[in-house]
Order: sequence, then C-alpha cells, then structure tokens
Amino acid sequence: MDFSIKAFTNKNAIAQQKTACAVVGIHDNGKLSEEARALDEQGVLTAAVKSGDITGKPGTTLLLHRPGGAAQRVLLVGLGTEGSVSDRHFITAAQAVARALSSLGAAEALVALPHDAVSGRDAHWMLRTLVLALRESVYRADSLKSKKDDTRSGVKKVVLALSTAPSAALQAAARQTLAQSVALANGIDLTKTLGNLPPNICTPTYLATTAKQLAKDTKLGVEVLDRKQLEALKMGSFLSVTNGSEQPPKFIVLKHMGGKAKDAPVVLVGKGITFDTGGISLKPGLGMDEMKYDMCGAASVLGTFRAIAEMQLKLNVIGVIPACENMPSGRATRPGDIVTSMSGQTIEILNTDAEGRLILCDALTYVERFKPAAVVDIATLTGACVTALGHHNTGLFTRHDDAHDALANQLLAAGKTANDTAWRMPIEDAYQEQLKSNFADIANIGGPPGGSITAACFLERFTRKYTWAHLDIAGTAWKSGAAKGATGRPVPLLTTFLMEMAKK
Ligand code: BES
Ligand code: MN
Ligand code: ZN
Repeated sequence: MDFSIKAFTNKNAIAQQKTACAVVGIHDNGKLSEEARALDEQGVLTAAVKSGDITGKPGTTLLLHRPGGAAQRVLLVGLGTEGSVSDRHFITAAQAVARALSSLGAAEALVALPHDAVSGRDAHWMLRTLVLALRESVYRADSLKSKKDDTRSGVKKVVLALSTAPSAALQAAARQTLAQSVALANGIDLTKTLGNLPPNICTPTYLATTAKQLAKDTKLGVEVLDRKQLEALKMGSFLSVTNGSEQPPKFIVLKHMGGKAKDAPVVLVGKGITFDTGGISLKPGLGMDEMKYDMCGAASVLGTFRAIAEMQLKLNVIGVIPACENMPSGRATRPGDIVTSMSGQTIEILNTDAEGRLILCDALTYVERFKPAAVVDIATLTGACVTALGHHNTGLFTRHDDAHDALANQLLAAGKTANDTAWRMPIEDAYQEQLKSNFADIANIGGPPGGSITAACFLERFTRKYTWAHLDIAGTAWKSGAAKGATGRPVPLLTTFLMEMAKK
C-alpha cells in the first residue's frame, strides 16, 4: 500500500480534488465534519444523514456514489461525539475505513478526517493510527498457500489530507510522521510473518538468517553465536533447554548504533523458543501448534529493529535473542536436573516447561557487558499472565524503586500512545520465597499461585546490575480461534518507547 500526504489550503479545496473515493467524518449527533460539509454542496450527504442511513456512531460507514464535487465516491465514517472522540472511537473508525476501502472497486482514496477530532491527540497520532489500521487490513499470511488470498480489489494508494493550510514546518513534520508510521508497519509485518511461519521452517537457524538479512538490508551490526561459543560463555541454563532438540541453538546480537558513540544503549532481549513442547514435562496436545508462537518475543525484537533502522532513529539500541527449541528426547533435560547459569547461580529445573526463564536468564547476564541504560525483555512467558490480564494488556514487571517506576511509566505511556497497552504487575520479596529450592540456589518454578509474578521474580535475580523491565506477551502476541494469527504486539509499544527515548 502506497501512502502520501497532500496539503490543502482550506477545507473547500478538498471538494475540488479528483479522487475515486473521499473519506470524511460525521459525528454522533449527525453533524457533518467540516471536510464533509465541503463535499455536500448538493445536499446529498445531509439527505443521507436525515434518512437515518448513518448516525455517526464510531465505526459506522456509508458509501455514496457521485454525491457532487470532484470525488467519484464519498465514504462517510462515524467518529462519535464531537469534542469527546476517544482513542478507541477513532481506532474503531480507522478500522472501519480500512475494511471499507479494502473491498472497494477503486484503487485510490483520499482520507480527509478532522485533525483535532480526538481528545488529547494531534494530527501525528491520527496519521499513524490510520496508516497502521490500513496496513493491518491488507496483511496476509498466505506465503505457503498454493492459491493466494484475493487481493485484487481494494484501495492500493491512499492520500492523507492535511486540510487546515498547515505551515511548511508542519507539512514536513507530517511527512516524517508518515515515513515513521510506514517503518513501524513494516516492523509489525516482519514480526507477524515470523510468528505465523510454521516451526519446521522458522527454526533458530531461520531466525539467525533473518537477522543477518535484516542487518544487511538496513545496515545494522549483527553477530550470531553458536553452541561452542555459548559453552565457552558458560550458558549452562540456556544450553539445558536445547538438549533435546536436533536444531542447533543460536544466540543473536543486533546493533543499531544511531546515537552518540558514548551513550549507553537500550537493550531488548527477546525469548526465541521456536517450538515449545514443554520438553519432558510435555504439554497436552490440544492447541499445541500455537507454541510455534513461543518465539514472538524474538520476532518483536527483529520487528522493532526493522522499524527503528528504517526510521534511522538517533539512539543506541542492542537486541539479543536466545533461540532454540524445547523438545523431549533421550538427551533432554529431566525434571530434577540442576544446571549452572552464566551468572554462577545454580537452578533446579523442577519443570522443563518453564524454559523461557532458563534461556532468558543467561541472555540477561550476557547483556551486562553493554552497560545498558535500560534492559527490556519480551517473552511469551506464562499462561498465568493470560489468566491474569487476558488478551488486552501485556504484563509489565519491574522492581519498585524510583528508576524502575520511571521506566515502567515510560513503557506504559508508550503503550497507550501506540494502542498497544501494558498493565503493571508486582515484583516483591514475598513472591521470591516461592522459588526456594532444597538443592540449588533457586528453583525454576514457584507453584501455581501468581505464576506470572514468580516467573518475573526468577528473571529479576539476573538483572540486578542495571535498570530492567519484563514484558510478558503470552496473552497479546497472537490470537487463537478463527482469527488465529500473530498480532505484531508489542512492536508498537517498543518502537514508540524508543522514539521517545531518542527525543531525550
Ligand atoms: N510458552 C509457555 C507460556 C505460554 C503458555 C504462553 C500458553 C502462552 C500460552 C511457557 O514456556 C510455559 O510453558 N510456561 C508454563 C510455566 C509453568 C510450567 C510454571 C505455563 O505457563 O504453564
Ligand atoms: Mn514452556
Ligand atoms: Zn515457552
């Protein structure tokens, strides 16, 4: 999909613009937006409202043919109550526009929605929301289907109108926002595509190859460590997870050094289990295919790097991905095995299905060498997080001191802006008690109560040398059921967070 921005000297100029479809807004009380009024010289839009065919409720649409003016069609979209259009209302409207345009017999459209419609948000936020909704509607996961999903119909070229005689500076800023939004959409696409690939294709080696290709395309630094190097680093915890697998483990390091050479980097660490059977603590069969999504943390790191590299973000960011499979076999780790992590802490593995924390803890020790400004890990870590927060919010965990409260608040705010929200959960000593082992420094499970919290508490013990946050994306990284597929979350949250960091 091709996007561009066109500035109009005033709202009436929109009516003179030749287009296959002009998209304009209408409010709850049936009140046409200024752009819609400009297109209503012959009263067709007003008549449509009077007829009751459209109310202005968020997300409702009405398509009118040749209502007058230079547009062949006008798509009216409901935005909700004037003066109190919420983020949600506008996102619903943007999704409805995307749906309507994707089935239209036109190849091009002009979207002219009021810039100040959403309370507390500006034109940049609206541009980004529109681009993401439109790109979401054309995403397909059909690379392995013999017959591709039909994409012949629908709008391919979208012109986004700036309609209030904006200054040259504002126009330039809007063009930059558009380019950044497209970069973000490209990052989300990569994350979804990797997540949706089957586990026989998307192996640790495939993730490493993808990282190398991405680094080549966008001029990132990349390094891939293999088993020998991981043994030399004494990553006994990570390596214990890969014991049962025929696929070699990979440890991927990506570098985007867009900031000053001496600036401490932000480090992203993504869980890259390309398939999680549970190992010897085997998972039940029903829905096990969805454990191909257990590399979505890794995929979100790769997607975020694609986005920030395309944006040429002025910030130092390092991405680290421990990648392997969790399989049962005669060589697999047993419940009861004790391993020594890179940090030197010994771990009693009481359940081989709690493997995410076992690969992450060594990665979290490894990243100490970068003297990070902050470390954020992203992992499909626990079913318990899905029980706690459902599929709406990612779980956010940090220690509770001033530096960590600040980091947590930045991540929460980025999630709100990006419509990719997180919810903060506790890390407290009382929960750490549950990880006591009779035979090692720590056990890898803390029992059923507060399962997502004890998992975070486990990771916390390996992160005491820097400021750190953990994102549990078990409930948000993919959808099950008829709409099964990766969501691309939390790439919008992470990218927005990094964009804000770059401004400081
Ligand atoms: N990858 C899973 C977590 C998961 C399960 C995410 C279902 C999304 C849906 C993780 O490796 C795992 O198996 N966790 C266990 C931990 C338990 C053994 C303490 C879980 O959540 O059941
Ligand atoms: Mn598991
Ligand atoms: Zn897992």
